[in-house]
Amino acid sequence: ETRITIAIDGPAAAGKGTISKAVAQQLGFAHLDTGLLYRAVGAKTLSGAEAVDAATSLQSEDLEADNLRTPEVAQAASKVAVIAEVRAALVDFQRAFARRLGGAVLDGRDIGTVICPNADVKLFVTASAEVRAERRYLELSGNGLDVSRDEVLADVKARDERDMNRAEAPLKPADDAVLIDTSNLTIEEAVDMALATIKSRR
Ligand code: C5P
Repeated sequence: ETRITIAIDGPAAAGKGTISKAVAQQLGFAHLDTGLLYRAVGAKTLSGAEAVDAATSLQSEDLEADNLRTPEVAQAASKVAVIAEVRAALVDFQRAFARRLGGAVLDGRDIGTVICPNADVKLFVTASAEVRAERRYLELSGNGLDVSRDEVLADVKARDERDMNRAEAPLKPADDAVLIDTSNLTIEEAVDMALATIKSRR
């Protein structure tokens, strides 16, 4: 049986989520959006929980809360994500998922560097901050959220800054990651490039 692990990392709104979902579907692999774990912990802190308690007691239902996609929760997620004990509490679940029979795609910030340093294929998906903010703006406003372009750009930049400069598991490409810049690619082109890279590497 195959236990192939594909790690897809990158900054906010670079296209990781879309690419990961499409790749997992094409290959018949399971997909874990690890950002959801941090968002669920962040959401709990916004309603008064202590971050480490929230991470150690996280339940699968918590990943289905309605507000996890809001910019407020995204900011809270990146704040709890700097705490070493929060990250440590989420490691086992992610590694177990990565070892699933039938193959797994995990997307996040530290999958190729910390969670799955032995992943079979590592992609690092990037795009300019402006392109990423525009995509996230269209996504959020399309979902009926009352956000402005400036607000979304500020959110993306603040999270990049925090994610890249933290001591614990900072956002950076693994040495053996393949970089995919999606700034000038359509979704279809980005997915095709990811699939071609995976095919050539696995
Ligand atoms: O990917 P997403 O935007 O949902 O992630 C929300 C936040 O969670 C990120 O800004 C980052 O701070 C944190 N995160 C992380 N490590 C991961 C996934 C997400 O630190 N593997």
